[in-house]
Amino acid sequence: TMDIKIVKDQQAGGQAGYQLFADALDAGANVFGLATGSSPITIYQALTASDLDFSDKISINLDEYVGLSATNPQSYHYFMQEHLFNQKPFKHNYLPDGLATDAEAETSRYDRIIENNPIDLQLLGLGVNGHIGFNEPGTAFSELTHKVALTPSTIAANARFFADPNEVPKYAYSMGIASIMQAKHIVLVAYGENKAQAVAQMIEGPVTEAVPASALQNHANVTVILDEAAASQLQ
Ligand code: F6R
Repeated sequence: TMDIKIVKDQQAGGQAGYQLFADALDAGANVFGLATGSSPITIYQALTASDLDFSDKISINLDEYVGLSATNPQSYHYFMQEHLFNQKPFKHNYLPDGLATDAEAETSRYDRIIENNPIDLQLLGLGVNGHIGFNEPGTAFSELTHKVALTPSTIAANARFFADPNEVPKYAYSMGIASIMQAKHIVLVAYGENKAQAVAQMIEGPVTEAVPASALQNHANVTVILDEAAASQLQ
């Protein structure tokens, strides 16, 4: 079932998301699945401003660019340190290792981490095209962690952040839809008009691999936090 919460703006969404983390801690959650991107930032701000204690908790991030180290400002690891981990220490922060060159070994290592640390609460953003993690339209729902070839448009969009075009990531490691679906509670946040169509397809459209987030209709416990613009195409 999907519980839809419509909030005034991204600030209020941060408070709503924060409350779900606080409730999860109260309920004894140990493992938090985390996302990068703009949508979770207000939740991370609310968490860092709070006195919630994660020092004996585990985090597991969705994805990382292949080829980027944790010290590269464009890496997802760096993003997480900046927005959350530096201010809120965890017992351990797991992310895919962007420098791992053996994709088979790295993705199975990550699947084992998830297996050994079942995710209590998984935070997700939503792509304009309905993607979750780096699972683009057409990705099989059965995929666990895998290496993804970034689309030419994503590579082009990222190019502006790099002095050397050869450094622009062409691949990422990402949890798959099947990895994400194992989480006990999923919290997806989406804001703005440009997400409205993907939100409507995710919640009201057919469950189809053409819309990766529509898989969430088959999950028992999903909370969706939206602003009014993102909710504007719901019936
Ligand atoms: C981030 C991730 C992506 C984003 C999505 C939305 O770790 O996996 O799926 O959640 O692209 O990004 P924003 O929130 O920037 O609109």
